[in-house]
Amino acid sequence: MKDCSLPTRKECLAILAEYNVPTHIVNHSRAVAKLAVFLAQRLNENSVVIDIDLLDRACMLHDLLRVNDFKESDYNRFERNLPHEKKAKWQKLRAKYKSMTHEDAAYDILKVKYPALALAIKRHRYMAMIDENEKPDTWEEKLLYYADKRVMHETIVPLKDRLAEGHKRNVLSHGSSAQSKINTAEVDLLIEEMEKEIFEKIGLNPLEVTEEFIDS
Ligand SMILES: [Fe+2]
Repeated sequence: MKDCSLPTRKECLAILAEYNVPTHIVNHSRAVAKLAVFLAQRLNENSVVIDIDLLDRACMLHDLLRVNDFKESDYNRFERNLPHEKKAKWQKLRAKYKSMTHEDAAYDILKVKYPALALAIKRHRYMAMIDENEKPDTWEEKLLYYADKRVMHETIVPLKDRLAEGHKRNVLSHGSSAQSKINTAEVDLLIEEMEKEIFEKIGLNPLEVTEEFIDS
């Protein structure tokens, strides 16, 4: 993975600014990167080889097109006195990528310049766990996927809390069906297995890994 081309942290911030990513999403991305890099460092100490720069940059850009998932009526909640140009930019992006998930849209934008990073982003989609072609496979992909499922807004929370919040949000926007409930149970189980795989290697309890723990 070391030979892949990557943006610097500064370049990531420039890309986020170019796409007018709302501040709360940038802050969420920083929190995901912080947790993912912490876990990667602990795994590295336990002889697991991980490209930490790739992981960090993929986390920073993973929600580049998250605005694609929001309704226009949500835009004013993102920012007080939202400038017209920003709103227009989001409307334009939404029109361009409306048939895609935010993960696929970011993949599409980044795949030529940063293929490994783009693929990790594509594979952080919740349902990717049960998709044979898109299941997170490398450690970088797994840690981005997992860390995103532990960070609610900007806070590290227990996995079950974040998953419950995601399910609640999903039912509100898409309604519930018997099939989606089955799939959700299957995906949640696979994420729990992923958590076990990570934490068994680093010898920590997932619940003790909080922001304060990482900073201590
Ligand atoms: Fe995210």
